[in-house]
Amino acid sequence: MWEEGLGEEDVLKELHAASRKDMKFKDGNILGSMCTEPLAIAKMAHFDFIETNLGNAGLYPGTKLLEDIIIGQLATLLNGEGVSGHIVSGGTEANITALWIARNTTGKKEVIFPKSAHFSFFKACDILSMKPVSVPLTDDFVIDIDKARKKVNKKTAAIVGIAGTTELGMIDSIEELASITPDDAFLHVDAAFGGFVIPFLDDMPKFDFKIPEVSTLTVDPHKMGMATIPSGALLVRNPENIKEIETLAPYLTLFRQTALSGTRGSAAVASTYAAMRALGRRGYSRIVQQCMVVTNYAADKAKSVGLEIVKKPVMNVLGIYMPTAPSKIQAGLDEKGWKVSVATNPECLRLVIMPHVTKQKIDELFADLQEVLAGV
Ligand SMILES: Cc1ncc(COP(=O)(O)O)c(C=O)c1O
Repeated sequence: MWEEGLGEEDVLKELHAASRKDMKFKDGNILGSMCTEPLAIAKMAHFDFIETNLGNAGLYPGTKLLEDIIIGQLATLLNGEGVSGHIVSGGTEANITALWIARNTTGKKEVIFPKSAHFSFFKACDILSMKPVSVPLTDDFVIDIDKARKKVNKKTAAIVGIAGTTELGMIDSIEELASITPDDAFLHVDAAFGGFVIPFLDDMPKFDFKIPEVSTLTVDPHKMGMATIPSGALLVRNPENIKEIETLAPYLTLFRQTALSGTRGSAAVASTYAAMRALGRRGYSRIVQQCMVVTNYAADKAKSVGLEIVKKPVMNVLGIYMPTAPSKIQAGLDEKGWKVSVATNPECLRLVIMPHVTKQKIDELFADLQEVLAGV
């Protein structure tokens, strides 16, 4: 620990030096992250609520009200009028909490999820001593329902479907999963990414609380919700189920907690409120349409330079097959200042076309990609 403190100006200098090393979404070179530059008003709101802590909610009735309003708005967006929930730190915490509730409510320990599920489900199973049961995908990169059906048994605590897979943005058939979910098990939908995308696109399958069997749902405002990090949301259809994870917290103002975190930095609650209030459905719809225009532009561009795309993009995530190991291409692009990622199932280059990515950036990326391809 430093012995002497430093003047504000010098502290800022050190901070700025560190920040200059960081990439910034607004520069448009990050195509491998599911986050983006938050809306300006969301950043302001974050700063204004920097000292709030909903872990001790009795001190912050104003922030608690914002959280309740957000949950209500998300419930309406996702056809779950009356569902309850929490703002949490992101998709990982929401998924862990969902399985925690499922385990405690059902008293069972097996979790069935597709191979495409986010690794947070393995973390959740490890922490909760639950058994992960991974199900292969079909050729369309969604859960193989017949194979999933064979895994269901009397130890099944939860079946998980993904509405917007991390690697390719695919949507499992939640209706089919509902048809194989036993009455005493949970059906959890991970819409961490898709929850702020699917409702704004036409002709999409049902994936949310409109399906009566859906018990819990994850949706992340810090991804396509345009809020600051860390903001995730867990929605729970039956408020009684949340009590299954209630813990006494005697020294705090409300004496009990029903969230994984104790102290919950709640600036992102205000920022989520700000983003949702400022954008409304129309604002999100505009952002999603724009992302899809750029995504389809990137898909066409890939084809025009002789590359094969994995699937017609369902949402703003695009997989492109590479003629050689995608990690090599990724490394070549990295040297040219691009951050793209690779998918493993199938092996391909993965682009996430967030709101900070423009057509011009796609043109520049593909120019560099062709150079990298020519050099391998
Ligand atoms: C579908 C899905 N679920 C969960 C997560 C985990 O979210 P977080 O990184 O906010 O914990 C991600 C992250 O990309 C995701 O794509």
